Amino acid sequence: MVVGMGAVATTLIAGVEATRKGLAKPIGSLTQMGTIRLGKRTDNRTPLIKDFVPLASLDDIEFTGWEIFPDNMYEAAAHAQVLESDHLKTIRPFLEAIKPMPAVFDQHYVKRLNGTHVKKGKSKCDLAQQLRVDIQNFKSKVDRVVMIWTGSTEIFLEPSAVHETVASFEKGLVEDDPNIAPSQIYAYAALKEGIPFANGAPNLTVDLPCMIELSKQNGAPICGKDFKTGQTFLKTVLAPAFKSRMLGVSGWYSTNILGNRDGEVLDDPESFKTKEESKLGVLEYILQPGLYPDLYKDIYHKVRINYYPPRGDNKEGWDNIDIFGWLGYPMQIKVDFLCRDSILAAPLALDLVLFLDLAQRTPELRNIGIQEWLSFYFKSPQSAPGLYPEHDLFIQQMKLKNTLRHIRGEELITHLGLEYYD
Ligand SMILES: NC(=O)c1ccc[n+]([C@@H]2O[C@H](COP(=O)([O-])OP(=O)(O)OC[C@H]3O[C@@H](n4cnc5c(N)ncnc54)[C@H](O)[C@@H]3O)[C@@H](O)[C@H]2O)c1
Repeated sequence: MVVGMGAVATTLIAGVEATRKGLAKPIGSLTQMGTIRLGKRTDNRTPLIKDFVPLASLDDIEFTGWEIFPDNMYEAAAHAQVLESDHLKTIRPFLEAIKPMPAVFDQHYVKRLNGTHVKKGKSKCDLAQQLRVDIQNFKSKVDRVVMIWTGSTEIFLEPSAVHETVASFEKGLVEDDPNIAPSQIYAYAALKEGIPFANGAPNLTVDLPCMIELSKQNGAPICGKDFKTGQTFLKTVLAPAFKSRMLGVSGWYSTNILGNRDGEVLDDPESFKTKEESKLGVLEYILQPGLYPDLYKDIYHKVRINYYPPRGDNKEGWDNIDIFGWLGYPMQIKVDFLCRDSILAAPLALDLVLFLDLAQRTPELRNIGIQEWLSFYFKSPQSAPGLYPEHDLFIQQMKLKNTLRHIRGEELITHLGLEYYD
């Protein structure tokens, strides 16, 4: 069940169908293309991940969801202009058959949008109940359900008293508490129905005590937020490299131009602030200025997003990095990533849905709430309260693969390697 059926969602859905029909390959998806090494390097055991853990098959996935505009998935995909019309034509009937359900929406939380395909309710509690009925109806047609937010970025919100416990949240729903955003209403409905929830946007949604409580209670796994796709993906590759060589960083200026609906929403300062917080966090955690004051204490880190319609979904992410080496001599690195936002995000969305479904079917993972092993996919990974999140992409990848080994009773890989020299 997909919340917000725009560029990422339609690229995901069209891509899964194109893959099922043998028209394209699911490139960028670890669950579909990735392998996992088992045992020693000399054992030659590297099955595909999808053969090693019991993931749902692409052939078995059914899609539905909610959107504030009534367009079917063909119209929405054509509007998003990510996939070319030749690609869409071949799967047009499939896409046309998927029509969104009316959404829970309030323009207060996404200023630049004004949709008409929206539920009416007496209170936020009433709206949550309507979503639960939608979920129950879909549940009656399929075996298992996962919900993923690919909706717009909401305004910046901070945790408040209403988010403390499930009881306070439920009281807040009845009283229409303004601290409860639509994404939280969807997450609540999902977790109440025992459905795992992933968040592709940086909104304050399941990173709340009440949601963690509900997730554990109902065996409905949750994970981090905000897909790590373009600029931040590269940042979390480059920053650990500098730190591993003890190279200093004095400045990191990141700017983006993009022209899709996401860019338009992020042009609003309140939605941008939510994204900015998510993008800024990574360097602080990776570089640990407290441990390495000589190298990272005074970094000037700036992130900008500029709405520039001519580019559509084909974003340009540009980084200027000022680093310094031996005896403090300065150097510069420029990164210019001419990427495609939704082409990068769609495979992440697919992997998250498949892995969350796996987590729910794995007794050891089902009731732990936060799935930290899925940090690999997020700009803002979620970790246990009080524990700092892990942002380094390669540590995240190791954590993910070791979790898969662990749940299948395989030995963990530490990369010590001394056994080869006995
Ligand atoms: N593409 C990427 O690389 C990437 C990376 C990280 C995060 N994200 C985030 O993923 C989200 C989706 O990105 P996109 O490019 O598909 O944006 P998009 O604007 O094309 O799609 C989002 C859709 O959500 C809908 N929507 C908004 N509020 C809703 C609600 N309450 N209920 C139902 N629908 C709602 C909008 O009408 C829109 O169609 C954004 O928040 C974006 O910031 C994208």
